[in-house]
Amino acid sequence: MDEQTYFDANRLSWDQRTKVHKDSDFYDLVSFLSGKSSLMSVETEALGDVAGKSLLHLQCHFGQDTLSWARKGAKVTGVDFSGEAIRLARELNEQLKLDARFVECNIYDLPQHLEGQFDIVFTTYGVIGWLPDLERWAKIIRHFLKPGGTFLLVEFHPIVWMFDDDFTKIKYPYHNAGVIAEENTGTYADREAPIKRVEYGWNHSLSEVIGALLKEGLQVEQFEEFNYSPYDCFNQTVEVAPGRWQIKGLEGTIPMMYSVKAIAD
Ligand SMILES: C[S@@+](CC[C@H](N)C(=O)[O-])C[C@H]1O[C@@H](n2cnc3c(N)ncnc32)[C@H](O)[C@@H]1O
Repeated sequence: MDEQTYFDANRLSWDQRTKVHKDSDFYDLVSFLSGKSSLMSVETEALGDVAGKSLLHLQCHFGQDTLSWARKGAKVTGVDFSGEAIRLARELNEQLKLDARFVECNIYDLPQHLEGQFDIVFTTYGVIGWLPDLERWAKIIRHFLKPGGTFLLVEFHPIVWMFDDDFTKIKYPYHNAGVIAEENTGTYADREAPIKRVEYGWNHSLSEVIGALLKEGLQVEQFEEFNYSPYDCFNQTVEVAPGRWQIKGLEGTIPMMYSVKAIAD
């Protein structure tokens, strides 16, 4: 199958997921609309004061994080290829009377849809696994960063993606060995949701991520690994401290997320 077929299937899947996510406890839209930030401390501490800065959010889903940065005073642009997600993000932007801009397109095609450069390019939690090629991804990031601008990635750790869904055994290679097709039902925000589809993803090792950024002249300033997830989005989880989830039976033994902060030359 060609790349476009994978993207088309994934986009439809994210359209389906968005309709479920909108009303889920996981995304808790009611609290968000009444002022709660959806951002986690890893990203707020890494980026510090964003007031007055321009921020491009890649794979923004339906915009909660994008709009949370806007509430902190950033001039934000969110990008996602799911039409449902972007429609909802624009609706929330209007409802909250913020001035965010949302672009609907595949991030690989973004230079054909958006002009300008940004102080910050930001992308987090469940993003690069949908992308086949990180060298092309890093080129997009470099293209949209001002010289001296900051890139921040916070992502689930590639070790997590090696396991089967129930974390009983290693199922996939650590390194990128090509496309992984999976038939999935439900979604992390509602496991019982009546949706079923085939999705296509790629595992990316840490060296693949960091190597791609270095190749584009991004200087890695901060790199951290964490042994918990701040989201309860996997099977077999246990909350080991408020807002920190690990896998039952594997508590404290595996990394679950990492962050990379890099500066454009
Ligand atoms: C797990 S979500 C991002 C999570 C986000 N932090 C959140 O919870 O709001 C992944 C997003 O990537 C988007 N996506 C996947 N592949 C993409 C691509 N090639 N171009 C643009 N968006 C893509 C999906 O539509 C989805 O909204």
